[in-house]
Amino acid sequence: MCDFLAPSTLRQSYRGYKSTANTPFWGGSPDASPDTKSRTSKPKYVLSQKQREFLDGALRVNQAGELAATLIYKAQTPQVVRSHPHLRPLMKHMYDQEAGHFSTFNQMIAKHQIRPTAMYPIWQVAATFLGWSTGAMGREAAMACTEAVETEIGSHYNEQVREILSWQAEAESRGEELDDELKDMLVTFRRIRDEELEHLDHAVENDAKEARPYDPLVNIIRFGCRTAINISEKI
Ligand SMILES: [Fe+2]
Ligand SMILES: [Fe+2]
Repeated sequence: MCDFLAPSTLRQSYRGYKSTANTPFWGGSPDASPDTKSRTSKPKYVLSQKQREFLDGALRVNQAGELAATLIYKAQTPQVVRSHPHLRPLMKHMYDQEAGHFSTFNQMIAKHQIRPTAMYPIWQVAATFLGWSTGAMGREAAMACTEAVETEIGSHYNEQVREILSWQAEAESRGEELDDELKDMLVTFRRIRDEELEHLDHAVENDAKEARPYDPLVNIIRFGCRTAINISEKI
């Protein structure tokens, strides 16, 4: 069920780190692969070093976050489903979406040779513990965990979408356009953000707010997510 947790693409990217920050990939490189060739003839918006670094950090965080999400659901599901079998389809649906997100970011970081976070093994342990412990606390706590995580992750994806939209606006003001791959990335980020917010809604519909103690639990998980995001952006 979890062979995607150690995909070959990931192992490759560990071996051969070559940050996009040092390579002219984003923004219409002349030797772009066939699938990134321009769909129109407008000049391409070329990303600055800072923008490339932003994308490096964003993709590194997204991959780590989706890894964590799959592990949280993997640890929670047996416990939640044992006492609430009617939640099996919902847990599977959310898990399957997270597995899809994780696979998407594994492919992106491998393609752009972005180094995964050095904290990868730590996040694996932390996410499994979080999933296991909230699952052991019961259905409401498991749902409160999803609510807390998706609140942070949803707003994190939103920030990325806003940032790329600001690049798009700048490009248009210069009579240029974003590289087709960046346009596709924007579509992907929006879709994944919407799916995360759908998980948040499912959690609230399934009594996340009934978890006890609700406030400390949600606050500590949200704090943990923000800390993990900040660390994974850098290392
Ligand atoms: Fe996700
Ligand atoms: Fe999610």
